[in-house]
Amino acid sequence: PVILSQTKFTHRDSLRFPLEERALQFGDGIYEVIRIYKGTYYLLDEHIDRLFRSTEAIKIKLMVTKDELKHMLQELLNRNQMTEDGKLYMQVSRGSAPRDHVFPKDVDPNIYAYIQSQPRNLETMKNGVGVITHRDIRWENCYIKSLNLLPNVMAKQEAKEHGCYEAILHRNGHVTECSSSNVYLVKNGKIFTHPTTNNILHGCVRMAIEQFVLEFDIPFIEEAFTLDDIWSADELFLSSSTSEITPIVTVDGHPVNTGKPGPITKQLQTAYEKDAN
Ligand code: PDD
Repeated sequence: PVILSQTKFTHRDSLRFPLEERALQFGDGIYEVIRIYKGTYYLLDEHIDRLFRSTEAIKIKLMVTKDELKHMLQELLNRNQMTEDGKLYMQVSRGSAPRDHVFPKDVDPNIYAYIQSQPRNLETMKNGVGVITHRDIRWENCYIKSLNLLPNVMAKQEAKEHGCYEAILHRNGHVTECSSSNVYLVKNGKIFTHPTTNNILHGCVRMAIEQFVLEFDIPFIEEAFTLDDIWSADELFLSSSTSEITPIVTVDGHPVNTGKPGPITKQLQTAYEKDAN
């Protein structure tokens, strides 16, 4: 497999980092995950825009423009002769330099990107998933797609240990998002989800859903719902580049409504299907 390293293409096994790499020592960097369908990126502009927002927020200056980066990511697909469903992982760190919390001077950021095959998770999208609830103990800048994922990793692992797919995170009783996806509640034909403040990641699939609902005239209400609201919800679902739109059918072992994927979730899944193909 060929990967992108800085602005060059190289073999996956040839990439090496020094001990003193800021992503490794400080988590000092950001990342993106972009879905690939049949060899084509989905929501590429949205992801590139967010990548630039993240780097700006942590004061990393990229040495490429958005267009140059898009061009390189396309070249990455070509060089790997990618024609399947898959995903891209891309990371930008502040660079490699002697360990010091203060930013190093005159050091270029380290950028790499690779792609891999990943089939769509058709089974979970059809049947829905179980989730747990978990306190959101993350910092106040969750709109930055930071490499510091320890709270997310801990929450996701706890979900896994309960036989669940995701963890719904809550702050002061209000649901923010999941450990690696956004989350939505459906009640009386309306969709409720946390507003795009600093407390959640502004999901690219969330942006796509905002477009889908216009077509169906479904009110999309950017208001955080509470943990209690879940027990009178009609439907609950989550979204991300890897999970697409996935119904949530149980929370902490209890069924959401009838415990089956609901009609609005299915309608959005159909819209997604159309948009991504
Ligand atoms: N996660 N919220 C969080 C905390 C996330 O990490 C993600 C994405 C999302 C959904 O964003 P998007 O729709 O742009 O994929 C929401 C990626 C997939 C990951 O970390 O693997």
